[in-house]
Amino acid sequence: MDTMKVLVTGGCGYIGSATARWLRERGAEVTVLDDLSEGHREAWDGDFVELDLLNREALCAWVGGQDFDGLVHFAARCYVGESVEQPVRYWRANVVPVIHLCEFMPGVPLVFSSTCATFGDPLTPTLAEDHPQNPVNPYGATKAAVERLLRDREAAGEGSFAALRYFNAAGASPSGNHGEHHDPETHLIPLACQAALGHRGGLTIFGTDWETPDGTCIRDYIHIDDLASAHEIALKRMLEGGESGAWNLGTGIGVSVKEIMDSVGKALDRPVPFDEGPRRAGDPERLVADPSLARKELGWEARYMDIDSLIATAASWHESHPEGYGS
Ligand SMILES: NC(=O)c1ccc[n+]([C@@H]2O[C@H](COP(=O)([O-])OP(=O)(O)OC[C@H]3O[C@@H](n4cnc5c(N)ncnc54)[C@H](O)[C@@H]3O)[C@@H](O)[C@H]2O)c1
Repeated sequence: MDTMKVLVTGGCGYIGSATARWLRERGAEVTVLDDLSEGHREAWDGDFVELDLLNREALCAWVGGQDFDGLVHFAARCYVGESVEQPVRYWRANVVPVIHLCEFMPGVPLVFSSTCATFGDPLTPTLAEDHPQNPVNPYGATKAAVERLLRDREAAGEGSFAALRYFNAAGASPSGNHGEHHDPETHLIPLACQAALGHRGGLTIFGTDWETPDGTCIRDYIHIDDLASAHEIALKRMLEGGESGAWNLGTGIGVSVKEIMDSVGKALDRPVPFDEGPRRAGDPERLVADPSLARKELGWEARYMDIDSLIATAASWHESHPEGYGS
């Protein structure tokens, strides 16, 4: 295949920048589009256009002069709590950009950042692709709606898609130069690292009376480079004429909140300060992927299967970047 020319939206964000670097390191010609509303300019040092995907005219004018083989769409608003408070903003921010991209890039294969939040409350111990999609918050609902839009587009012959449903994205680049920097930070691993390092106060564990071995919630943590490799595979599959589809991306291994705290404590050689609070409304007890379809159909497999090796990358990023990209 000739060099693939790829547009990565949201490529100054956490997972988008990891994927943009991954694709570039493997020979793709990558352009990142980001409005920097959440992302960091320092996260990407290649071709860049600053543009808001909600700005229909500006996007139309810019994209008209481009010729991309594939599109990887990360740009979105991603805070579940905020989506409950500002549903209309979330529907606009997460759905309208995809409509614009589909309008102005007809026929271009699209890899979409979907999420396990499209499933809602789990009915089974691990979640496979055929688990019903009943999102319980506006964030998950907007992502499920985009999946539907992409299925309809594909059925009409207007372009293939891969919806990749991530579980909990985690970790930092092994080089130590790039990592997680959200503002506000809501994810457990960065919060635990920052608390252990004394950059913020202790954490509150939401519920220690769940029906899990240590009483705390269980999640499936997937390294950003493992997510990046799945995007590369999905993109190539579509460019080679492979079928569209949706795939769950996780390790298939459940890790509890307390296990995360222990692992962060080991990696940084100091304990994570925490106290115990009540359960938080809307938190499922357990969210773990069944990644067998991605293994079978994409030939994809996570490499960071051991939580300590994943957390070591995050811990080293937070140690060397106490202020994130502003350090
Ligand atoms: N972090 C996770 O655990 C997780 C899990 C499942 C799915 N996802 C999805 O993965 C994607 C990336 O997540 P992330 O954690 O890297 O988020 P992020 O906030 O770090 O990255 C999103 C990027 O999109 C940009 N952006 C937002 N709206 C834009 C617009 N209108 N025009 C141009 N750029 C815009 C932001 O500036 C930011 O750089 C999101 O779609 C998210 O919903 C994330």
